[in-house]
Amino acid sequence: MSLKRTRTCGELRADDAGARAVLGGWVASRRDHGGIRFIDLRDRYGVTQVVVDESSPQAARAAAAGLRDEYCIAAAGTVRLRPADMANADQITGEVELAADEIEVLSTCDPLPFAVGDAVDAREELRQTYRYLDLRSGVMQRNLALRSAATAEVRAALTDQGFLEIETPTMVRSTPEGARDFIVPSRLAPGRFYALPQSPQIFKQLLMVSGLDRYFQIARCYRDEDTRGDRQPEFTQIDVEASFVEPDDVFTVVETMLARVFARCLDRPLDTPFPRLTHEEAIDRYGSENPDLRFALPLTDFGPIAERSDFKVFRSALADGGVVKALTVSGDGLSRARIDELERRARAQGAKGLAWTRITAAGPEGGIARFLSSVAPQAVEALGAAPGDVALFVADGRRTACAALGAVRTALGAERQLDGHRFCWVTDFPLFEWNEDEQRWDPSHHPFSMPRQADLGLLETDPAAVRGQVYDLVLDGVELGSGSIRIHDRALQERVFSMIGIGQEEARRRFGFMLDAFRYGPPPHGGVAFGLDRLVMLMAGQPTIREVIAFPKNTTMASLMDGSPSPVDAEQLAQLGLRITVTEGDDGGL
Ligand code: AMO
Ligand code: AMP
Repeated sequence: MSLKRTRTCGELRADDAGARAVLGGWVASRRDHGGIRFIDLRDRYGVTQVVVDESSPQAARAAAAGLRDEYCIAAAGTVRLRPADMANADQITGEVELAADEIEVLSTCDPLPFAVGDAVDAREELRQTYRYLDLRSGVMQRNLALRSAATAEVRAALTDQGFLEIETPTMVRSTPEGARDFIVPSRLAPGRFYALPQSPQIFKQLLMVSGLDRYFQIARCYRDEDTRGDRQPEFTQIDVEASFVEPDDVFTVVETMLARVFARCLDRPLDTPFPRLTHEEAIDRYGSENPDLRFALPLTDFGPIAERSDFKVFRSALADGGVVKALTVSGDGLSRARIDELERRARAQGAKGLAWTRITAAGPEGGIARFLSSVAPQAVEALGAAPGDVALFVADGRRTACAALGAVRTALGAERQLDGHRFCWVTDFPLFEWNEDEQRWDPSHHPFSMPRQADLGLLETDPAAVRGQVYDLVLDGVELGSGSIRIHDRALQERVFSMIGIGQEEARRRFGFMLDAFRYGPPPHGGVAFGLDRLVMLMAGQPTIREVIAFPKNTTMASLMDGSPSPVDAEQLAQLGLRITVTEGDDGGL
């Protein structure tokens, strides 16, 4: 390389006219206007137009003629103003161009598998196979830059609040987070395995026992579970733990951190504190644990009216101890076909149907209106409906009715133009959830979460009613983070273990080291962890976390670029004392 870059492709402005500059970058596009060639040169910082014309030295003209897309080149020349009518207001460097007198091809580029550019519209498989090319696009470079900036602000915000960044191991004993572990065989102890951590949960609690008081980590976590748009087998958490705290203290730490991240990275002030609603309120009002508060559309309780209606479906659901929930929406564009489509969504959540009626100046009309005639004015009032609205109803057990109407609410919200970001805390989650398949209680979060003080007496007698000091942070309808105040009392921990079917022996086997540590003066403590990938995805307005992860896995947990997972040498297996008992292709159809 003889030319050394002096300026970037995003830097030159009108003020630089007359200056010498050497740019380095990739040929984003070329235009040949007979005798005059324009080259858009791109790097991470922007695009600058390079011009070679008849006044340029012969060598530069010859080099320019040989350029192809995505060649990596250096161009040296003089910055000059473009003629006023040629200025490009869409480009930050659009007022100027580089009149090149020397062009050096630093490396050439084979024919491309897809057009590299600002719009990434190639098939995702191709994008992932050639991820290094995909990452040249403006969108991906902006996404990764935002991720870097957000991570830096997270670090600064937590450090400023007295948190220590401490790394915990990524080869650990299996941790009980609910998903399957990825395991790593040991060579020195054949037949034994490390697990990759699903989260640093136990280690961060042990750091509290150690008196480190305030810990955080940008932690890589690994879970062998189905991959989806907002789930990857390896992902990154902003992991936080603190001693002598109550939920409100944790919320304040997080709100302070996020306010800084949004202000500095998106120039967007956040209203803090974030709204808080209990799990029960979230289900009743929005039919979801992860309510999207960018739009209102609350569910209403139609039970008191339904009770006096003539609709058998409603009355029998109430008689069975169920509820009748309603959603009042604008009737604009809500055709019968659309209502049928919404009904399918409700049924997918277990509802038996989706009843509806239109509200007119004369009262309900169509759908189930005839069953409401005896209570028409009260119904319209309870629904908060105006003429032109449509009311949608589900009658069922509380969970099913709320979930079904919540799914309808989410579908209706997805059609709206939703601007801005709305956070909320959902608190007081039930401590346990019933596992129908296994016929047992599972922890709704993890087994180390503290029950609410007031519910301690119900632990063995009415587990369904026990709420935990367990909370989620929700952003725009997506679960962004979860946390809890932890149990620091061994006897209580044993009661919770025994409720979820973990006897003393199993507890010792799985978490013995943690239980031992808790004999030595553990402080009260609690914390939270957020998905950094999800946070950046939402900040960047991207549809999946793959768009904010440099090298993601696909839906079968494979990396199309490096071809992992891959077979390993027989020798490696022998050293580990492993034998493969399935043959290639016998892999569950992956
Ligand atoms: P939890 O399991 O709820 O809690 O995880 C916390 C947050 O991590 C993110 N997340 C994921 N992101 C991408 N891909 C995944 N597969 C994935 N799984 C989880 C989510 C989620 O809200 N140790 C506890 C936290 C605590 O109690 O402090 C934990 O890991 O955004
Ligand atoms: P049917 O009386 O079964 O013809 O139902 C009349 C309407 O009520 C249809 O639109 C059904 O989708 C709806 N429906 C049936 N069961 C329920 C239910 N449990 N909750 C809400 N709507 C229902």
